[in-house]
Amino acid sequence: MSRIVYVNGSYRSYNEASVHVEDRGLQFADSVYEVIEVHRNHLVDPTRHLNRLDRSMSELSIQPPMSRAALLHIIRQIVRRNRVSDGTVYLQVTRGTAPRDFPFSDKSLSPTVICLARRFARGARDIVAATGISVQTMPDIRWGRCDIKTVMLLPAVLAKDQAGQAGASEAWLVDSDGLITEGASSNAWIVNQKGELQTRSLSHELLPGITRRTAIDVAGELGISVNEQAFSPQDAYTAKEAFNTSASATIMPVIRVDHRSIGSGKPGPFTTKLRAAFHHYAERLHSGKSSTGS
Ligand code: PDD
Repeated sequence: MSRIVYVNGSYRSYNEASVHVEDRGLQFADSVYEVIEVHRNHLVDPTRHLNRLDRSMSELSIQPPMSRAALLHIIRQIVRRNRVSDGTVYLQVTRGTAPRDFPFSDKSLSPTVICLARRFARGARDIVAATGISVQTMPDIRWGRCDIKTVMLLPAVLAKDQAGQAGASEAWLVDSDGLITEGASSNAWIVNQKGELQTRSLSHELLPGITRRTAIDVAGELGISVNEQAFSPQDAYTAKEAFNTSASATIMPVIRVDHRSIGSGKPGPFTTKLRAAFHHYAERLHSGKSSTGS
C-alpha cells in the first residue's frame, strides 16, 4: 500500500489523506482516472496516458487542474516517495466539490486531484503470466461512452466479482450482438486461425487501452499482423491463443474462456513473444523523459 498520497496540493500519509464528503467523484462518479505502469523505476507510456487523461477531461468538460508538467511532477514524486520500482501509479481527477446537485455547467468548480502508487514484487506478474489466467464471459451492461476512462466502475466491479465466483480472474464483456467488447479492466485479444492478433476496433464501446496501442506497435515491429475486428466467445473458444492487455498486467495470457481450454491450454508462442518484446520495447522507451528520476 502507498505510504504517501497526493491530494489537492499536499503530500499526506496514507491514513490521513482524504477528500470532501461532497466531492462529485464520490457522489456522482463525476471523475476520470489513469493507471500507469512503473517498470524498473520508469513510467511506461506516460505521454499516451496523459493524452488519454486530457481527452477524458475534455469529453466531460472537466477543467484540467494544472499543466501536464505539474501532473507529471506529482506522479514522479509519488513514485519516488513510495519507492516504487515496479508497480502502478493511480491518478484521479474529479470535477470538484459542491453541494449535491446534478448539473455542473453553471458552477466554477476546482477539480480534486488524487495520486497514489502501488508496489508489485518484481517478477510477481511474470509468475502469473507463466501459467496464464481464466476469463468468464458475461453481458456488457455498461453505458454508451466506455471510451472515456471514468471511475463509474460498478459494472466492472460486479463483473469481476462474478468472474471470481466462477473461478476466473477477468470478465470478458459481451455486447447485444454477441461480440466481446473488452475485459472488465483490460482489452481482450485472440490469435485467430490465420495467425493474426485480433482485437476489437476502437469505438464508444471500449476503452482505447494504452497497452493495446503499444502492443499493436510491438506486433508491427515483430512483423505480426493485427486485425482490428470484434470476435465472439465462440471465436475465442476455437482460437489458437488468447490474452489481455492492461497497464497493470501488460500482456497477460488467457488459457481458459468459460472453462474451455484455449489452444494448447498453456500460454502460446505469439502471446509469450509479445509479452517478452513488450518489456523490451518499454525499456527502450525508458530513455530520457519517461524516467521517474529515481
Ligand atoms: N484498467 N479496458 C478497461 C475497461 C480498463 O479498465 C482498462 C485498464 C483497459 C486497459 O487499458 P490500459 O492498457 O490503458 O491500462 C481496458 C486499469 C488498469 C484499471 O482500471 O486498473
